Amino acid sequence: MKSTAIANSNIALVKYWGKRDEKLILPTNSSISMTLDKLHTTTTVEFSPSLKEDQIKIDGKKILGEEAKRVSQHLGLVRKMKGENLFARVESENNFPKAAGLASSASAFAALSLAATKAIGFALSRRELSILARQGSGSASRSIQGGYNEWMKGTKEDGSDSYSKQIAPQSHWQELRMLVTVLTTKEKKVKSRAGMAQTVANSPLYKAWLETVEKDLETVRSSILEKSLFRLGPCAELNALKMHSTMMTTQPHIMYWEPESIAMMKEVMQMREDGISAYFTMDGGPQVKILCLENDAKKIQKRASELKGVEKTILCSAGEDAKTIEKGLF
Ligand code: PMV
Repeated sequence: MKSTAIANSNIALVKYWGKRDEKLILPTNSSISMTLDKLHTTTTVEFSPSLKEDQIKIDGKKILGEEAKRVSQHLGLVRKMKGENLFARVESENNFPKAAGLASSASAFAALSLAATKAIGFALSRRELSILARQGSGSASRSIQGGYNEWMKGTKEDGSDSYSKQIAPQSHWQELRMLVTVLTTKEKKVKSRAGMAQTVANSPLYKAWLETVEKDLETVRSSILEKSLFRLGPCAELNALKMHSTMMTTQPHIMYWEPESIAMMKEVMQMREDGISAYFTMDGGPQVKILCLENDAKKIQKRASELKGVEKTILCSAGEDAKTIEKGLF
């Protein structure tokens, strides 16, 4: 009753920001993302009759409180599916800082969903796994499959049509890169769950966000299929800015940008003036991610690394599917 899984994180090119159902994690809009090959979570799960409660460790530390509750609730969904009530030991490791805007919850809940279902004796389809992962963290639904995925918002109340579908596999666009610039690894103050609920409730710009999202989905989907950075980049960049505008206009304001983030975004704009095709995106944290092509990647990485306050940069390509592996963490 033990299994280990590895899943890549993903960064949205059309963002998810807002839920229509808080409990089932059903979004107000569909979203599209790219999985990242260099950022992943490895998770081992073992169900055992000798345990009196779930025991959870992340990055070597026992976790308690809200964080542990979220993992236990997720294990509860798996137990319920199987009609089993054994507790589990869970160990999870990220190869990057968690909760700093690098989508750690995406890879974490994707790896947990796969490892826990395998450990309890289920072989779920990709669609079923995406639905399960979604209930841990919305963006996790997009980390079950590699390459590029669209999380369809669905219309059903039970969420059975709200899952991610692969637009194109890892191998589809060999030249595309995403450079992750790590500006600070402090955990963010406002978690996305609370932040998006507040934004939906009171940002005057939220309606405008929803009105433009369908068009963005169409552009991003087709530009990935056509492998056109020239069409993808500007649309993804503007989509991120629109999402951040809804965050900044909610009360109290949510501002994930740090001075270093602004400097990096301006540097990317300057790169374009210098004739380099580079476009930024940002999520619920200070890090800036830069979309570009292989030919320019090294040049862009050098310029980005030279900026003040940059802790490190990680050059990523599209990632592979989440998968089980032999070697466990315990
Ligand atoms: O799934 P969550 O709760 O981690 O929310 C993700 C929200 C953003 O990263 C800001 C956007 C996205 O689509 O990933």
